[in-house]
Amino acid sequence: MVADRRAEEREAEAGLHRANNTNVSRIKVQEQTDMIEIENVKKIYTMGSVEVPALAGVNLSIAQGEIVAIMGASGSGKSTLMNILGCLDVPTSGTYTLDGEDIGSTTDSRLAEIRNRKIGFVFQTYNLLPRISALNNVELALMYGNHRNRRRTAQEALERVGLADRMRHKPTELSGGQQQRVGIARALVKSPEILLADEPTGNLDSRSGEEIMQILGQLHSEGISVIIVTHEADIAVRASRVISMRDGLIVSDSSGLTAGELTVQH
Ligand SMILES: Nc1ncnc2c1ncn2[C@@H]1O[C@H](COP(=O)(O)OP(=O)(O)OP(=O)(O)O)[C@@H](O)[C@H]1O
Ligand SMILES: [Mg+2]
Repeated sequence: MVADRRAEEREAEAGLHRANNTNVSRIKVQEQTDMIEIENVKKIYTMGSVEVPALAGVNLSIAQGEIVAIMGASGSGKSTLMNILGCLDVPTSGTYTLDGEDIGSTTDSRLAEIRNRKIGFVFQTYNLLPRISALNNVELALMYGNHRNRRRTAQEALERVGLADRMRHKPTELSGGQQQRVGIARALVKSPEILLADEPTGNLDSRSGEEIMQILGQLHSEGISVIIVTHEADIAVRASRVISMRDGLIVSDSSGLTAGELTVQH
């Protein structure tokens, strides 16, 4: 009898657990609104009399908090898409809506403001100033705008990427992986909601690349949306969603489900 009751209690507990889990995931999914909404985006570069179609009609939705890898051959349009996502460039046609705002019809100064407030960039070649320390490189990202405690904020960002003991080093006194971590800290200081990384591990050996991916994975688990361009399949598998591009188009997307469809499934 006692054993039966224990079994019943266990089952009830498991049921409760399942119910809680379902509720949690439902709430989580319903909170996911499409932060990025790209519809039929084309980008045509004009080189003299030649038109280069870099994006040929891209459709893409990315929800807040996703981690997405973008793959594809050289010249397939990955960086062009990242530049548009990061508000560094605008589409030739089609629409890009970010957090409900139509990016295509906004002014240059508003674009700069959105970049500054919402988006962090990580580059393949780090783009650090060589003659100043890691700390100063990160602090520099806070020069514009009304930031208080610049030094402290920069220190915290460097601590977050595991460089507490290298802050006074110049880039030339750091390994490639450490330089990239400075690059990530610089992107982090402004608390972006989206981190865009165009081949962040492209210049690194596989171990340093793995460390960078761990940091990006950690930032994603803290709620930042992360979009990574990569040529490496083992980097891409770290993302929960992989998009492939060819000739300016998305040819596959591992997430066929929209947030709405996910809600129905649960
Ligand atoms: N500023 C530009 N002016 C003219 N053409 C450009 C410009 N930027 C990119 N392109 C062209 O647009 C196409 C897409 O380029 P993009 O840089 O987006 O490719 P990618 O997928 O990032 O390639 P890679 O893997 O080599 O970085 C290419 O044909 C490229 O030559
Ligand atoms: Mg590129």
